[in-house]
Amino acid sequence: MPATPGDNLADLAAFWMPFTANRQFKADPRLLASAKGMYYRTQEGAEVLDGTSGLWCVNLGHGRTEIAKAVHDQLLTLDFAPTFQMGHPLAFDLATALSEIAPPSLDRIFFTNSGSESVDTALKMAMAYHRARGEGQRVRLIGREKGYHGVGFGGISVGGLVNNRRTFTTLPAVDHLVHTYDLARNAFSRGLPDHGADKADELERLVALHGAETIAAVIVEPVAGSTGVLPPPKGYLERLRALCDQHGILLIFDEVITGFGRLGAPFAAQVFGVTPDIMTTAKGITNGVLPMGAVFAHRKVHDTIVQGPEGAIEFFHGYTYSGHPVACAAALASLDIYRAEGLFTRVNDISPVWEAALHSLGDAPHVIDIRNIGLMGAVELAPRPGAPGARGYEILVKALKAGLLVRATGDTIALSPPLVVSEPEISKLVGILAKVLSTID
Ligand SMILES: Cc1ncc(COP(=O)(O)O)c(C=O)c1O
Repeated sequence: MPATPGDNLADLAAFWMPFTANRQFKADPRLLASAKGMYYRTQEGAEVLDGTSGLWCVNLGHGRTEIAKAVHDQLLTLDFAPTFQMGHPLAFDLATALSEIAPPSLDRIFFTNSGSESVDTALKMAMAYHRARGEGQRVRLIGREKGYHGVGFGGISVGGLVNNRRTFTTLPAVDHLVHTYDLARNAFSRGLPDHGADKADELERLVALHGAETIAAVIVEPVAGSTGVLPPPKGYLERLRALCDQHGILLIFDEVITGFGRLGAPFAAQVFGVTPDIMTTAKGITNGVLPMGAVFAHRKVHDTIVQGPEGAIEFFHGYTYSGHPVACAAALASLDIYRAEGLFTRVNDISPVWEAALHSLGDAPHVIDIRNIGLMGAVELAPRPGAPGARGYEILVKALKAGLLVRATGDTIALSPPLVVSEPEISKLVGILAKVLSTID
């Protein structure tokens, strides 16, 4: 009989875990064994409320039988088909279905397998676009501090996380806007913070420094997710859009987290009324059940690249699993659920409850900020002197023991429950968190 994982450290040794303190984890492992609806069940059988949609991806709740059936049937019908110089109907069906929920004109869809791949694809698209227009010198990419765009070399280069950048080399022609987090002026804001739209004007400084004619694209998350739920200041995205237009720079929204209903519309671009030129997605596209990403390109970007001699490959890029038939089946079944259950817009009904519940934690010990937008939220804790991140980690561990999964990045507790969350489940989530916060020194 195999030993229970955790009984024997050797059982856990082979899996080199991603973004995890491996030795710390393996000394005291936290294993999830099954999931249904809003709940996980641990290896020990305890029920855990999913406060994070897995990793910002299980928007429809766990164990959706419609998706399972679609995946099962597809595996037996067409398990794999290449999409290089060949095709299969589901990839076309899914692209068409996605184009129907896309922001205006962002209706040319390129498939990937993850957010990181979507980001690298989008950055390459931006360069290919300018090259096709005869401006091949536009190769510089502008990201933003506190941005997270996955772990490809493109993504870490435009990303603004020091730990992602300090060990690895990054692309040479990259610069960054300042981040928009302003604790002093915007603490405890509900929805979009009031102050900081002018931080978009940083782009003018970068244009003056590098020359607009060298810049291919600006990439930002409409709401920064992984670095702690940072909604854009009022007017910020509009200003960034206007400046990009003024200087011929493409604007890329990384909607890997904000896409698929998280903010009350299929995409954040629609919520904010600001349309990028390229949009990256992943995660919620298949409800997280299979790896998939999609890059939405504006028709002008697509049509500029897809030209030249017929018979020449226009965009020299793709993945073996771009448009994988089984992932397509999962995505199509997921889209059916989003639509049938009104989950692209449900957040609009539930977010006032979410906002009020979350902000009720404002007086809890060590809390220095609370932020929320759509069905995302963050509780910011003062770092323990000399031990940044210690409080956040302690909360993760204690919340799990108390039956709640949260995400801790440093001393930020990030929350993003499935879009099907009920009011009592929101109360339960916040209740557990309040209790846990009261035990932290
Ligand atoms: C905004 C954003 N972009 C890209 C990624 C990377 O996605 P993946 O982990 O699927 O490569 C993430 C992951 O959390 C993300 O939040």
